[in-house]
Amino acid sequence: MIKAAILTISDSCAVGKREDISGHTIEEILTGHEFQLRKKRVVPDSHEAIVKELKYFSDKTDVDVVFTTGGTGLGPRDVTPEATKSVCKRMVPGLAEMMRTESLKKTPNAMLSRSVAGIRHKTLIINLPGSPKAVKECLEIVLPVLPHAVDMMHGGGHK
Ligand code: MTE
Repeated sequence: MIKAAILTISDSCAVGKREDISGHTIEEILTGHEFQLRKKRVVPDSHEAIVKELKYFSDKTDVDVVFTTGGTGLGPRDVTPEATKSVCKRMVPGLAEMMRTESLKKTPNAMLSRSVAGIRHKTLIINLPGSPKAVKECLEIVLPVLPHAVDMMHGGGHK
């Protein structure tokens, strides 16, 4: 089982103005695969708040993969990719590249997501866009490679 955490990044969800449907969507999808949800949190679109949670997941828990949702667009408060990059030692560009490339077959707006993926210690952090539809579409693209990704992070050999 892959140990997972979900971090929803949304000003309105953080103050309870909007339901965290995207976080819930990720949870539902993971439950149908080989994942065990360990943590689920919601923070506003704040660089400091995102960094704090990502550091907590990577440094203080044994979570293998953190899925963030939201804050990857072009809005003035969209800072998820910058916060993610600031805590990761090594980036994994292929994951975000494939999410954009494959998502372009569904919507041209896919090219507006600035999402990134990277590793801090033995935790892989993957940015997903904010809408429940985007979350579903992007997870379908990356989920199949995650067991091998986690295995490699833990020192397992290449397939
Ligand atoms: N990717 C997929 N697969 N499906 C989508 O509907 N929406 C896009 C894009 N990526 C979308 C997608 C839109 S409209 C935006 S603005 C960007 O993700 C950034 O979204 P975010 O700011 O909510 O993270």
